[in-house]
Amino acid sequence: MIRKMTKEDVNTVYDIELKVQSHPWSKQQFAEAVEIYVSTVIEINQKVCGFCILQPVLDEANLLLMAIDTDMQGQGLGYELLIESIDQLKNSPVQIFLEVRESNVVAIALYEKSGFHQIDLRKNYYPQSKGGKEHAVIMVKSCSDDFQALFS
Ligand SMILES: CC(C)(COP(=O)(O)OP(=O)(O)OC[C@H]1O[C@@H](n2cnc3c(N)ncnc32)[C@H](O)[C@@H]1OP(=O)(O)O)[C@@H](O)C(=O)NCCC(=O)NCCS
Repeated sequence: MIRKMTKEDVNTVYDIELKVQSHPWSKQQFAEAVEIYVSTVIEINQKVCGFCILQPVLDEANLLLMAIDTDMQGQGLGYELLIESIDQLKNSPVQIFLEVRESNVVAIALYEKSGFHQIDLRKNYYPQSKGGKEHAVIMVKSCSDDFQALFS
């Protein structure tokens, strides 16, 4: 089941975040995400095992963060969560943007499967745990066939 994230979910999603990210969001950022973004969770057997945070901006949106708990990855849950979370956006975005670490080939494959394609590379954008920087891949998904809407 996919549903809206609530403040009661914050501890659980934060625990997932700590497991999967080298530079995790803080608990406070998740608490704010419940209030200001379109934040969803996926539950299996009443256990939250993933989350997705989308930021609507005018007639577009940004995918800020998503994750599936380590022991539940590779079962199609990330794809299901992403597609359904996008469906829950009320602003009917004409396009959705995201940025992702260049090394995150699993996430990039998920995003490509979900209709995103690479449009840019932001060089030396992300800090790395071992020091140094990593490029960010910028991706976009067009949600409209109306060519004019994309550029107006
Ligand atoms: C990225 C992430 C959300 C994917 O979730 P998931 O539930 O494991 O992904 P799914 O099982 O839905 O797979 C969807 C697609 O992703 C790709 N994928 C998934 N696992 C993969 C793997 N181990 N290797 C390569 N591609 C993979 C495939 O294209 C897959 O589609 P397919 O099964 O038809 O081939 C999950 O791996 C994760 O939480 N990673 C850590 C956090 C993160 O990187 N978040 C994204 C950046 S913020």
